[in-house]
Amino acid sequence: MSSGTIFKKQKLNPSDGKGQAKPWVEKYRPRKLDDVAAQDHAVTVLKRTLQTANLPHMLFYGPPGTGKTSTILALTKELYGPHLSNSRVLELNASDERGISIVREKVKNFARLTVSKPSESDLANYPCPPYKIIILDEADSMTADAQSALRRTMETYSGVTRFCLICNYVTRIIDPLASRCSKFRFKALDSSNALSRLQFIANEESLKYEDGVLERILDISQGDLRKAITLLQSAAKIVLQNDDANTITLKHANELSGTIHEEILQDLINVIKGKDLNKIIDKVQEFVNQGWSAASALTQLHEYYIKNESYDTEFKNKVSWLLFDSDSKLTNGASEHLQMLNLAMKVSQLYN
Ligand SMILES: Nc1ncnc2c1ncn2[C@@H]1O[C@H](COP(=O)(O)OP(=O)(O)O)[C@@H](O)[C@H]1O
Ligand SMILES: [Mg+2]
Repeated sequence: MSSGTIFKKQKLNPSDGKGQAKPWVEKYRPRKLDDVAAQDHAVTVLKRTLQTANLPHMLFYGPPGTGKTSTILALTKELYGPHLSNSRVLELNASDERGISIVREKVKNFARLTVSKPSESDLANYPCPPYKIIILDEADSMTADAQSALRRTMETYSGVTRFCLICNYVTRIIDPLASRCSKFRFKALDSSNALSRLQFIANEESLKYEDGVLERILDISQGDLRKAITLLQSAAKIVLQNDDANTITLKHANELSGTIHEEILQDLINVIKGKDLNKIIDKVQEFVNQGWSAASALTQLHEYYIKNESYDTEFKNKVSWLLFDSDSKLTNGASEHLQMLNLAMKVSQLYN
């Protein structure tokens, strides 16, 4: 399924004149390094490499939706221009197979190709350095064997090829590979940077929204700008379908986020406080039946307990620990229902 070029196939509806069908995360992906917000360190260093056209192997790491993929795509466009990047850039992401055979075949075949000649006009407009770039997006999903194989490929073909590995957790990249790369850490976007980007998009799309909606969306997305932009687009779609309601409201934002309604959360907390085992079992059953997610419950319960001044520090510590424990079990695939039940009972025991 890999496209083999930096141009990803997009499921678009070209007949839609307003561009509503195009995902906004693609539509508003930064085109140039200068458009990448909040990653000043990475951008400054990479821009310097544009001048010398002397690029090291690179390792980008950091949380999702912070601009890693956008940055490398922008860099390759500025290095080669739109035409030459077709033959000079290979992008593999997690949807491609990641076993050792892929690294052997695809990467090696591409790595050993001699570089194609740039056209006169490309040469006049872009640095067009004499090497290719291989982007391995979500490289932390590669097996250790595949990573070792990659290390050898990297050494053998470093004359004509540069690698850019992208991952969330730098610790999942084997050391011999990581140590060959310049590392760039991408930070979660702070709220002012993220807010101005959302405002820009809302403005471009002529959206109307209640005060606080964008802030709420950012709050829900916690520094993941991809998530925030996707939420905004979904909200806009809902508003567009209802002729009379032209404005995105806080209610829309909350609905989309899967945020548990205030009354329902309070209901749950009251039953927990009541310490009646049968009532807790029924309430949790009802909660799960209504389709609320345990993950949202954990986040919101955490917020409720931490911000509530009527609980002392010791209580907050104990609740946090229980929430943390449930969270890690859920991440490892535990049943939502059982985890909610377990959590509710344990928290109820903290009340006296
Ligand atoms: N630093 C940033 N500056 C501007 N836009 C960003 C930034 N980070 C993320 N975005 C937005 O979020 C979307 C996802 O970004 P992406 O580069 O794919 O993130 P990552 O690869 O780190 O998960 C982009 O299309 C862009 O619209
Ligand atoms: Mg990415």
